[in-house]
Amino acid sequence: MRRKLVAGNWKMHGALHQNSELLTRIVAEASGLLCEIAVCPPYPYLAQVRSLIQGVAVALGAQSVSEHPSGAFTGEVSGSMLAEFGCRYVLVGHSERRALFGETDTVVAAKFEAAQKAGLIPILCVGETLSERESGKTEFVVARQLSAVLDRLGVAAMSSAVVAYEPVWAIGTGVTASPSQAQEVHAAIRAQIAALGSGVAADLRILYGGSVKPQNAKELFGQSDIDGGLIGGAALVADDFLTICHAAN
Ligand code: PGA
Repeated sequence: MRRKLVAGNWKMHGALHQNSELLTRIVAEASGLLCEIAVCPPYPYLAQVRSLIQGVAVALGAQSVSEHPSGAFTGEVSGSMLAEFGCRYVLVGHSERRALFGETDTVVAAKFEAAQKAGLIPILCVGETLSERESGKTEFVVARQLSAVLDRLGVAAMSSAVVAYEPVWAIGTGVTASPSQAQEVHAAIRAQIAALGSGVAADLRILYGGSVKPQNAKELFGQSDIDGGLIGGAALVADDFLTICHAAN
């Protein structure tokens, strides 16, 4: 039985006082939830967030990681640094990283590997653009993004990872994939992994991301292959995030 995970991707949002207000609310309700909760703040707030969630069932995650273990890479942050600051999860291959910062499938696979080497659980983000969907390439694109990791590390690497299917056209747009559109891609992802290792596929958590809101979370999370969500905008509003967490319960 896969335990649902709801992870908040704060992106480049937050400030000390805002984070504290938001987390005070989340921490107060966390113990009543059956799903796992994670928050992924920007790097400078990891220490603050870590102290605010101390002793509570909320996990810490980061939004990216260097593919290198250490060295002359100005501006980069390594997996071991994230682990030292209490991170359990790290996003890799978010579509904003792919589109705006030139992260290729190869770089994403290297980051995935670096994260696992540091003891972190990568949340591998995959998803198609609108034009890819409209030209019928959704499953091809998602399979290619997954294959980059599978070819490099083998299917066993997926036993300590999470996948997040995030159609690019649904991120931050208010347009969500319908539950059946999302389920179709989630099932394809699970089938691709199952072809290499059925046990790994059965245990793998596949999150949906892209305009998840209190109004649509329950129906999305009710699909058989949707194991929770990666939440952007709604993760910054305590009531919305908590309602989404309850929907995963
Ligand atoms: P959104 O973002 O919920 O604001 O669409 C999701 C994400 O980018 O992970």
